[in-house]
Amino acid sequence: MSGIYVHIPFCSKACHYCDFHFSTSLNLVEGVISCIQIELKKKKHLLSNKTIKSIYFGGGTPSAIHHDFIFDILNTIKENFNLSKNIECTIEMNPDNVSPELIRKYYDNGINRVSLGVQSFRDCDLLYMNRSHDGKQAIESLEILSKSRINNLNVDLIYGYPTLDDKSWIENLKILTGFNVHHISCYCMTIEKKTALEFLIKKKKLRPLEPDTGARQFKIARDFLTRNKFTHYEISNYSIKNFKSVHNQNYWNHSNYIGVGPSAHSFVDNLRQWNINNNKKYCDQIHASKKFYQKEKLNRKNIFNEYIFMNLRSFKGLDISHCYKQLKPNEIKDFNNEIKKLENLNVLRKKNNLIYLNEKGMLISDNISSRLFLV
Ligand SMILES: C[S@@+](CC[C@H](N)C(=O)[O-])C[C@H]1O[C@@H](n2cnc3c(N)ncnc32)[C@H](O)[C@@H]1O
Ligand code: SF4
Repeated sequence: MSGIYVHIPFCSKACHYCDFHFSTSLNLVEGVISCIQIELKKKKHLLSNKTIKSIYFGGGTPSAIHHDFIFDILNTIKENFNLSKNIECTIEMNPDNVSPELIRKYYDNGINRVSLGVQSFRDCDLLYMNRSHDGKQAIESLEILSKSRINNLNVDLIYGYPTLDDKSWIENLKILTGFNVHHISCYCMTIEKKTALEFLIKKKKLRPLEPDTGARQFKIARDFLTRNKFTHYEISNYSIKNFKSVHNQNYWNHSNYIGVGPSAHSFVDNLRQWNINNNKKYCDQIHASKKFYQKEKLNRKNIFNEYIFMNLRSFKGLDISHCYKQLKPNEIKDFNNEIKKLENLNVLRKKNNLIYLNEKGMLISDNISSRLFLV
């Protein structure tokens, strides 16, 4: 399974919590898009004998730029890569960009999955986040998508912030599951460094996060969604049968993928590359045929640690025999001891040769992973 990730680094408004790479000025759109096309051609050899199972337009907000730019990139991909017949081709959209005409154009050009950033249906929450849309637009966009030919829809929601009480969180989940949605990503609000959210909370202009809300609302979502036909298959992700995201699984399985555009990451044969996260510098370097990325070859420890991290988060289970194959005899002893301690703490369970987090463990999965890491 190989994939292509295209980072579109433009948004119409800066959400307070976001530390992804984007610009709210659209001045450089044309230049960035043509450089992404150049980058695709430069990287085509990396996946020359592979079949592409997933294309993902993420950002930023891909739906915030003119659709012809997206189609130009899609054409370059079609001309330079071998695409699977049943490829998953996703675009991230914000509700204020959704219209029947745009969805039709996307579909006609091969986009068969939409990931819609709703976050909440309540205006007070959307204001806290500084989103570009209101609750009414979120509902309208879902109505449009439900009537469209897009038959694979993900919606992102965020929980765990002070304007959202438990009752309103359940209400958000109820409204969403009233639509024909195939996949839901629920993210706990995190305060990233140097974001407006961090600054505004420090200056007491926004209410701070409360300590236990995230954990409580994680459980509420899990209970509600698993009772309503969704399978919880990764810490933040739920899907109905046969609608797990191919893009996400590619990433978690350490499959090869190339990422193009400012700040995008690539991972091919244990070599990781990450592009400059500045639109102008990215274009300048591409035009000057200079290096526009940094790279790192993953060593045995990195590969092992990433395997632990990804497999504990995704609930298919961590394969102990696979771990043993990667470890030296003295490391196996430490690894087993750590597993025993975690079992005694009642955060995971062992079944056959697989390890699974229980609900208590899911809430501290990063901490559990780091205890199993090779250092
Ligand atoms: C990079 S955004 C791109 C999608 C699109 N631009 C949007 O905002 O809907 C991907 C998702 O990450 C989540 N996200 C980003 N920053 C977050 C944060 N600090 N805390 C929780 N969720 C976050 C949001 O749910 C968002 O939909
Ligand atoms: S959350 Fe999405 S829309 Fe908001 S700033 Fe980040 S990328 Fe842009």
